[in-house]
Amino acid sequence: MAEAFNSRTLSDAKAERYAEVAAEIAAVLDGEPNFTARMATVAAMLAQSFQRFFWIGFYVVDLVHPDQLVVGPYQGSLGCLRIALGQGVCGTAAAERRTIVVPDVEAFPGHIACDSRSRSEIVVPVVGPGGRLVGVLDVDSTELDAFDAVDADWLERILARAFRDNASLT
Ligand code: SME
Repeated sequence: MAEAFNSRTLSDAKAERYAEVAAEIAAVLDGEPNFTARMATVAAMLAQSFQRFFWIGFYVVDLVHPDQLVVGPYQGSLGCLRIALGQGVCGTAAAERRTIVVPDVEAFPGHIACDSRSRSEIVVPVVGPGGRLVGVLDVDSTELDAFDAVDADWLERILARAFRDNASLT
């Protein structure tokens, strides 16, 4: 069934839905330079648009301890507060600056279980202007194998537009 995003009905087809939500996110973020506001908006709008997202949120590079990620804006149950760079799915995606799709979290060595109901996840690096690593976006599902190349492609596009390709962000 199509879910309503505010007053708008979104497509059932996943890629089309992502395209619609990506346009809505870009419109809402227009003119807002604050990173926290942008992260909170991206998390809220994606959570509202995809009910299969059990947990969605950001882990950002800590300015005081740059070898750690610290939790940022998120939607869902209580998340872990800190993750070391290189640890878990989030820390690995951040350290290697690559999107990681995990079909079964129990099969990922070192996976960090903030909520044992999460069965699969996708983690996408967030890169800022000038190529600076801002952190990662983590999306979890209670279903196995919930994420694929369409999720990776669209989440990467949304994050690049929101955090990298905008000269007014510093
Ligand atoms: N599973 C993640 C930790 C973050 S929570 O799922 C919200 C990881 O292994 O890095």
